[in-house]
Amino acid sequence: MKSNHSTTTDIFQDVEPRQLSFGIAILNKERFVDALEKCNSIDDFSSLKNKIAAIRQIITSPRDDSQGLLNIDSNGDTISLRKDVLISELNQILDAQIIGRAKYYLKRLEDGIQKVKTSKINDINLHRWKEYDEIITDSLWRLDKRDASGAHLGWYWGNFIPQIPHQMMLRYTKKGDWVLDTFVGSGTTLIECRRLGRNGIGKL
Ligand SMILES: C[S@@+](CC[C@H](N)C(=O)[O-])C[C@H]1O[C@@H](n2cnc3c(N)ncnc32)[C@H](O)[C@@H]1O
Repeated sequence: MKSNHSTTTDIFQDVEPRQLSFGIAILNKERFVDALEKCNSIDDFSSLKNKIAAIRQIITSPRDDSQGLLNIDSNGDTISLRKDVLISELNQILDAQIIGRAKYYLKRLEDGIQKVKTSKINDINLHRWKEYDEIITDSLWRLDKRDASGAHLGWYWGNFIPQIPHQMMLRYTKKGDWVLDTFVGSGTTLIECRRLGRNGIGKL
């Protein structure tokens, strides 16, 4: 495609941040880790489940916070977690059939709070992959209608559905990486690079 001045300018227009489609639980990190560690030291399965159920109750009904998990200290660290994911992790512990399995899930939850695990190819924290709303983790990508927002030329039949390079770059690049598109066309990849903080370079 031929480039023109307006296309070049439009690529740099601001994009509205995406709305979060889920609730966030902001917790007192030290107390929450402490509560999980206490659970991990319990040997009686039903006592362990009771403690986990009490934590779940606090997350779902913050008024019942007898443990101060939601009390944020002025100098203390907080941890923000997707509420639905946290509740499902707690449910998984509660649904475990044997204590060993429950403690495995508990340890995994603790790791997600205390550690960051990334790889060479992307910025995804593998300990918290379930919380990425933007990244499709299913093997089948069901995309909504073509993203025609901002600089994307929705009318041009030959271009990528922008969600495709968007998903690919989230999985296979890190912020600040260079992405080369030798078939740049109307610049879909370059626009998505700009949105995702990657450096895009391409040839028409
Ligand atoms: C279908 S368009 C790509 C559309 C692009 N993915 C987008 O979303 O806008 C194909 C592009 O590849 C370029 N192209 C096709 N054959 C080429 C070749 N042999 N060498 C270099 N560029 C080529 C065309 O000029 C055009 O820009």
